[in-house]
Amino acid sequence: MSDRKLSGEVFYPSKEVLDRTQVQCESIYQSAEKDSLSFWENEANKLHWFRKWDKVLDDSKKPFFKWFINGKTNIAYNCLDVHCETYRRNKVALVWEGENGDFRSLSYFALRRETCRFANVLRSLGVKKGDRVTIYMGRVPEIVTAMLACARIGAIHSVVYGGFSVESLHERLEDSQSKVLIVADGAYQRGKIVELKKIADEALQRAATVESVLVIKRTGHEINMEFGRDFWYHDLMSSPIAGNSCDIEIMDSEDPLYLLYTSGTTGKPKAIMHTHGGYMVGTYSTTKYVFDLSDEDRFWCAADPGWVTGHSYIVYGPLLNGATCFMYEGAPNFPNPGRWWSMIEKYGINILYAAPTAIRGFMRYGDAWVKRYNLSSLRLLGSVGEPINPEAWRWYHKVVGGERCPIMDTWWQTETGVVMISPLPCTPLKPGSGTKPFPGIQVDILDEKGMRTDDDEEGYLVIKNPWPSMLRTIWNDPERYIQQYWSRFPGMYLTGDSARRDVDGYYWIIGRVDDVIKVSGYRLGTAEIESALVSHQAVAEAAAIGLPHSVKGHAIHCYVLLKAGFEKSDKLIEELRQHVGHEVGPIAKPESIEIVDSLPKTRSGKIMRRVLKAKALGIDPGNLSTLEE
Ligand code: WT7
Repeated sequence: MSDRKLSGEVFYPSKEVLDRTQVQCESIYQSAEKDSLSFWENEANKLHWFRKWDKVLDDSKKPFFKWFINGKTNIAYNCLDVHCETYRRNKVALVWEGENGDFRSLSYFALRRETCRFANVLRSLGVKKGDRVTIYMGRVPEIVTAMLACARIGAIHSVVYGGFSVESLHERLEDSQSKVLIVADGAYQRGKIVELKKIADEALQRAATVESVLVIKRTGHEINMEFGRDFWYHDLMSSPIAGNSCDIEIMDSEDPLYLLYTSGTTGKPKAIMHTHGGYMVGTYSTTKYVFDLSDEDRFWCAADPGWVTGHSYIVYGPLLNGATCFMYEGAPNFPNPGRWWSMIEKYGINILYAAPTAIRGFMRYGDAWVKRYNLSSLRLLGSVGEPINPEAWRWYHKVVGGERCPIMDTWWQTETGVVMISPLPCTPLKPGSGTKPFPGIQVDILDEKGMRTDDDEEGYLVIKNPWPSMLRTIWNDPERYIQQYWSRFPGMYLTGDSARRDVDGYYWIIGRVDDVIKVSGYRLGTAEIESALVSHQAVAEAAAIGLPHSVKGHAIHCYVLLKAGFEKSDKLIEELRQHVGHEVGPIAKPESIEIVDSLPKTRSGKIMRRVLKAKALGIDPGNLSTLEE
């Protein structure tokens, strides 16, 4: 970063921040620019390998890239065992607060022990290397040990967000062909119980591959236990099956670590596949450099482990760095809007990583709720999931961060595995911009023809070179992997986002250009919502679009064509909203549903969502030549 004055609203790093940071901007960007493979290799060398790689990158079968060829490692070993050999053995790895005030804290030693016992329990249920295990629970410590236990024995975990419902869970169990489901009896959310086991029972009726269900008691309410299929976790964990040690599975660098389902342009959600080796190197280094983690930090990533942010920055990245993580179970405003701030004070959190939608939600309640607490422990803030509007950025910076904490606005995706565009603590910041690509990453913005856009001109955001934590494929669908990410601009990874670059080379993300809607930072596909709607007996056809919303970023609006014999009514509309909630999950419940007589379609029968969107926003729908009528 040169000394040249930057344009627009700029927040330069303070002397205090610069003095403290361990990250030397100049040198890290320079070395990565000179030779990104050596940069990644150097990072990989800081982790434990049972056998080192022969070659850093194999691009002979692109876009099926491979990293750290023939390297042998295990990410869970690096997260736990490595630290247990050092002074970190007794360091707190995880601090947890339940929504109801329950509290737990686990040292690295304890986290390893619990993980080993859990892993032994999974092995006793017949789980072997390569088997898929679905995890469906709330934010409790067992979600962390469940993931690590799978990784330890080489099983592939597939975490399904606890806010998803029957059909979403069913689809994911089927597609991944999971052998075991780990589920909690329930989860606390706003003082109420989310009936996770009940939802799972419904989903399991049609999931043929699941042999056993491991049930973790959280809420303790009455649930159904199916004899021979369902087992209480606590019974098995206290039985002789669960010894305190557990042999680690030595994994090839390219062996799958997990599947994570996410919404794409068309059809059902697809499983993004990540690996042990490359993903480990990516999460380790981005956590270290972006959040400038040091040993005494307490790091709070407020995402859910059911999303990639939780995978990379609650579980793997921080633990690889030997950090102390905080996790909170419940709703941000329960029992009041001071909950988050009270916990920052109580646990002395130093770094908070949250979504713009949460920030905007808190902003609405006013400054007083924040100011009631002493937040002086905070030194760094993060933002993720959607563009942060400058107004929310300034509020976060001033009211939460006391004008002292730099904000890392991190752009990335489930597919990228780790942060791709983000400042480092030493970077001058512009509210609303993710600033620059992470060292070793090359991005660009292209027009329709694949030409680089001019400054300030909007275009397709692409990534030009491979990186270790990139997705390897779409599970069961390599064709779609090629089609979706590598076909629009050959040789380049298509992100699905539009962006622009300013005169200083800073990147500004505008939003999705495909049929993905980001609702409160959650990624949903129009196809999922539409297929939930048409699964209702009254619906013939449906279209879903995202429209701007002051807190959620975008909200879902639907247009529905009824089948003959059904009458439009408020009651039916409400029923349809509930139906989507039941099928997909509460996060997918449409904001509004309008019953219409026809939908704009192309001559080949595709619904033209952009026409609906333009109409709703009162703007010009653009080229209508393909419109049927
Ligand atoms: C999409 C990916 C990144 C982990 C959580 C979401 C949007 C994400 C930002 C940001 C602007 C952002 C993009 C991206 N997005 N972070 N800092 N600024 N937009 O992962 O669910 O796979 O969603 O989230 O549209 O493509 P995801």
